[in-house]
Amino acid sequence: MSDPAKAAIRPVTAGAAPGLAHIHAAGFDEAWGANAIRDILAMPGSFGLMALAPDGEAIGGFVLARVAGDEAEILTIAVAAGSRRQGLGERLMDAAAASAVAAGAAALFLEVAEDNPGAIALYRKLGFATVGRRPGYYRRGAGAVAALTMRLDLPSRLRRP
Ligand SMILES: CC(C)(COP(=O)(O)OP(=O)(O)OC[C@H]1O[C@@H](n2cnc3c(N)ncnc32)[C@H](O)[C@@H]1OP(=O)(O)O)[C@@H](O)C(=O)NCCC(=O)NCCS
Repeated sequence: MSDPAKAAIRPVTAGAAPGLAHIHAAGFDEAWGANAIRDILAMPGSFGLMALAPDGEAIGGFVLARVAGDEAEILTIAVAAGSRRQGLGERLMDAAAASAVAAGAAALFLEVAEDNPGAIALYRKLGFATVGRRPGYYRRGAGAVAALTMRLDLPSRLRRP
């Protein structure tokens, strides 16, 4: 994406799934294919947001999340390698939190690998706190690393009564 600062955050469309899968594959060892992304978007309570270039063509990154009752969960977030460290991850997370609030969520959870300091730094900047640790949660070749469970209390003034 030529200028991530000019990207618009828009709901994910089914047609965007192959492009999202491409970005996901560059960000994770265990890539989610386009069909897996479509399946997630079809789950009750799930939603996706993507960063789109002004011309509507290039996708700079995306987030998938789900709301169940008064809790929401980030299922995945990935920014295209060439568009990182320009604020897209933060904007996508803010937009996902706002959508979760609009859907009635009071807290936002996520899991992040303990060996992913960039993502952990992003979540801490947004106010997430570590509330749990799951040893051996993510595979790394022959080994495994722990997942940190992180939680962000969503602003009650924005929640539905
Ligand atoms: C994690 C990820 C989504 C961050 O996206 P991004 O667009 O680069 O993040 P932003 O530019 O919005 O960064 C916001 C803040 O997060 C922190 N941060 C983000 N990436 C960081 C890194 N690699 N190292 C240190 N801090 C980082 C910084 O505090 C940054 O603010 P700053 O640039 O003013 O210092 C992106 O690196 C990515 O897609 N990684 C691969 C997939 C992944 O790990 N997803 C998360 C799995 S839980």
